[in-house]
Amino acid sequence: MSVTETLMNEHQLILNYIALMERATNHPDTAILLANSHHFIDFIHQFADNFHHAKEEDSLFRYLGVAGVLTHCNPIPQMLNEHSQARNFVQTMEDALLKNDVTGLVTAMQQYARLLKEHIFKEDNILYPMAERGLSDSAKTALLNEYADTEQRLNSAEIWQRYQHLYTELADSFS
Ligand SMILES: [Fe+2]
Ligand SMILES: [Fe+2]
Repeated sequence: MSVTETLMNEHQLILNYIALMERATNHPDTAILLANSHHFIDFIHQFADNFHHAKEEDSLFRYLGVAGVLTHCNPIPQMLNEHSQARNFVQTMEDALLKNDVTGLVTAMQQYARLLKEHIFKEDNILYPMAERGLSDSAKTALLNEYADTEQRLNSAEIWQRYQHLYTELADSFS
């Protein structure tokens, strides 16, 4: 059984938004960027942070922190540090948006995009394979149950539908 497949699916939506965010920062009409950037910020808060990073921090990373699971190296502190840096970049985006500071907004969006792409690459190619190899079957079952609880508590179906719909709308705005 895979304990990282759903997380990798979530990465894919996050990467789609990041690609769109990068396109938005290059859009010639900054008024469109200013009018829509709160949608990117909302997605990052609700989907990337509350939903996805919560499942990693509250569940996966906790299981990987148990002695003996990660035998060669422990990338968890670095991953947590990158989540924290990502939250700081989003805060900078929000502050810039409040001041109508386009340059600050674009810079923070590009920094967030670069950080998250590298972060997701490391999780998909290093951390998640370590999790699949290192966790016992009983730990994987318990972890999947925790994900299910989180998904029910946060209404996973609704959150996916909302942000897939928003993605389509935003893609139209920046086409
Ligand atoms: Fe992460
Ligand atoms: Fe992740």
